[in-house]
Amino acid sequence: MKIGLLGFGVVGRGVYEIAASREDMQVRKVLCLEDISLSDAEAVKDFAEILNDNDIDTVVEAMGGLHPSHEFAVAALKAGKNYVTSNKALVCTYYDELVPLAEQMGVKLRCTAAVGGGIGWLSELERSRRAQTIEQVGGIMNGTCNYILDHMTRLGMDYAQALKQAQSLGYAEANPATDVEGIDTWHKLILSANVAFGVTFDKESIPVAGIAGITAEDVANFAAHGLVCKLMSKARRTDGGFDAYVQPTLVPQGSPEAAVPLNYNLITFLGKTSERMSFYGQGAGRYPTAYNVVEDLIDVAAGKGFYAPYGPVTKAGNAQTMRYYVRGGWTEPAEEVWGSAVITAPVSVARMHAWRKANPQAFIAGVEA
Ligand code: HSE
Repeated sequence: MKIGLLGFGVVGRGVYEIAASREDMQVRKVLCLEDISLSDAEAVKDFAEILNDNDIDTVVEAMGGLHPSHEFAVAALKAGKNYVTSNKALVCTYYDELVPLAEQMGVKLRCTAAVGGGIGWLSELERSRRAQTIEQVGGIMNGTCNYILDHMTRLGMDYAQALKQAQSLGYAEANPATDVEGIDTWHKLILSANVAFGVTFDKESIPVAGIAGITAEDVANFAAHGLVCKLMSKARRTDGGFDAYVQPTLVPQGSPEAAVPLNYNLITFLGKTSERMSFYGQGAGRYPTAYNVVEDLIDVAAGKGFYAPYGPVTKAGNAQTMRYYVRGGWTEPAEEVWGSAVITAPVSVARMHAWRKANPQAFIAGVEA
């Protein structure tokens, strides 16, 4: 397998190093805008040098972002090259273009590292969905948020300090708002749910709230009630449709999710036959993520393409109700007062997220305990 590698940052460098240690793959060219010198590959600054190189059969993208990643992906697939990426924003945003295009061109598209870093999550969903109906997917999918929440909960750090540490360890996206506002988790949930259910979710129908703005007082309130806050995603089948959302969620101390430390992820599916299956591991970082990219390359060489057939565009509904922890501005019925926050009466997920949009200074967390 002859590879053109796009990007030489945290993940790209890891892929280059692992590939260099293997006989079955060779990185021929690396696209990097900075001056680098490589012993085993040619460094190039123009994507056309990879696109037009007929020796290169597979492109690996580890740049992140939507542009020019999108243009590069479309061009590579149209040129008949396989495409492996860790870029969840790209595959989620352009799902309904890239998945059918790869199919039409008869080339392989894989993105296991896009959800869960080093965890074999999408690759196991691919296997699992063949043998049973998947009822639900979701969990802790963002290493940066888990690192921040874990450090606030266990070590009493404040939010800014914990975020800074996560960034210095290379976990955060280039723009940390993508992590802390829940967008990265949202991309990963949509991608997982598309694969699990064989549909293409209308992204705007899936509400998202992140952890930005959480305070030490919130964390102390949760601990006083035996609860831990995690940024959780969920998508599940309902009677005739689907629910799906991303939000801070209060889980009981002692639950598997509450125990997830540092930047680890814990992602779960509920299958009709298998019941609960959970996947735990390094959700971010150079070598775990690069490892999963290399796993995809091995799968592509063995002839494996995308995880599920492309399915129709589908909206999620969110009529299910739950109680919420709300700090800031809630004037509707409440069941309890926790310091300067309240626990609301049950309210639908759709309504709470609409309320939060109008009250962006508020911090909300669903009470699933
Ligand atoms: N920023 C992401 C995270 C990287 O923190 O989980 C891995 O997708």
